[in-house]
Amino acid sequence: MTITRDEATTSRDSELPRPSSLEEVPGWFWPLDQHLFAWFLGHRTPLNPPGDLLEMGCYLGKSTIVMGAFLRDGEKLTVCDLFGAEDGYTKEATKAFYQRSLTRRAFEANYLAFNDTLPDVVEGRTDVLASLIEEDSCRFVHIDASHMYDDVRGDILTAKKALREDGILVLDDYRTEHTPGVAAASWEAVFCHGLRPVMLSSNKLYGTWGDPAPLREALLTELRTIPKCVPGIQEIAGHDVIRASRGKIPAPDLVTSCHPRRVYSPARVLSSTAAGAPKSGSLARRIAVDLLPPVVTRALRKACRARG
Ligand SMILES: C[S@@+](CC[C@H](N)C(=O)[O-])C[C@H]1O[C@@H](n2cnc3c(N)ncnc32)[C@H](O)[C@@H]1O
Repeated sequence: MTITRDEATTSRDSELPRPSSLEEVPGWFWPLDQHLFAWFLGHRTPLNPPGDLLEMGCYLGKSTIVMGAFLRDGEKLTVCDLFGAEDGYTKEATKAFYQRSLTRRAFEANYLAFNDTLPDVVEGRTDVLASLIEEDSCRFVHIDASHMYDDVRGDILTAKKALREDGILVLDDYRTEHTPGVAAASWEAVFCHGLRPVMLSSNKLYGTWGDPAPLREALLTELRTIPKCVPGIQEIAGHDVIRASRGKIPAPDLVTSCHPRRVYSPARVLSSTAAGAPKSGSLARRIAVDLLPPVVTRALRKACRARG
């Protein structure tokens, strides 16, 4: 295992393809979750003071790019991945899969196409994070590494220690057919380790060890502004949990302005949260545009071109 902080590999690799939109980055990070990441990372309330961000399992950077866009001054983003290493994967088949498409250089090239500085990269199993990440230091942790029960269980306990009380935990694939171990570990965290679920998308569970009520109210208000997103509440063992499906959110019909502030949800979140916004205005606008569903992005670019 090697641990580096912005070392050696920060130079851009001209041989690697340079994505110009988030859509071009391979990965499993769908528009509703892009909205939700933008909202949880960008909203400004007393419940969202500064804190570090941690991602377990970055693959080629699709979700990491969005997390990095919301880093505030003084905050740190750490990512941990095996990047196709010979040793470390719990399952041989998983290793074989990632060795076909994943390298650390490709992750870094993708990330640097959207953000100026690499995150701290921990190249190794997520097990090592327990001793590396400071207790109560994080405001947001995304778990999307191994999908085996024992591994995810350990990752959740690491996240619990790393998160401050009102921090947000995101669990990928908590209900996917081929990942029953993630489902088991996720609901075990709810029933046995005090995690309070706030939001269930088709692919991710969003929870907190803090008070979920203010988050739930504010998030419901936000989701109702997204056309045809009809969020519902389900009570699960005493927890009122929001749910919405990614399939219910179509792209808006028209884009009337090329100013991100006037485009719905992620762009608005990105452009209206000074403390949570990226430092560079042009980068903010670029990421904002890239976060939109592809059809909107294309329309937006066309509108911008037409306006010169
Ligand atoms: C599903 S992908 C992550 C997808 C990414 N978050 C996205 O949204 O595009 C899972 C990643 O976890 C990594 N991984 C799998 N098992 C791991 C482990 N035990 N420790 C660290 N990384 C692991 C894989 O190399 C892969 O890059």
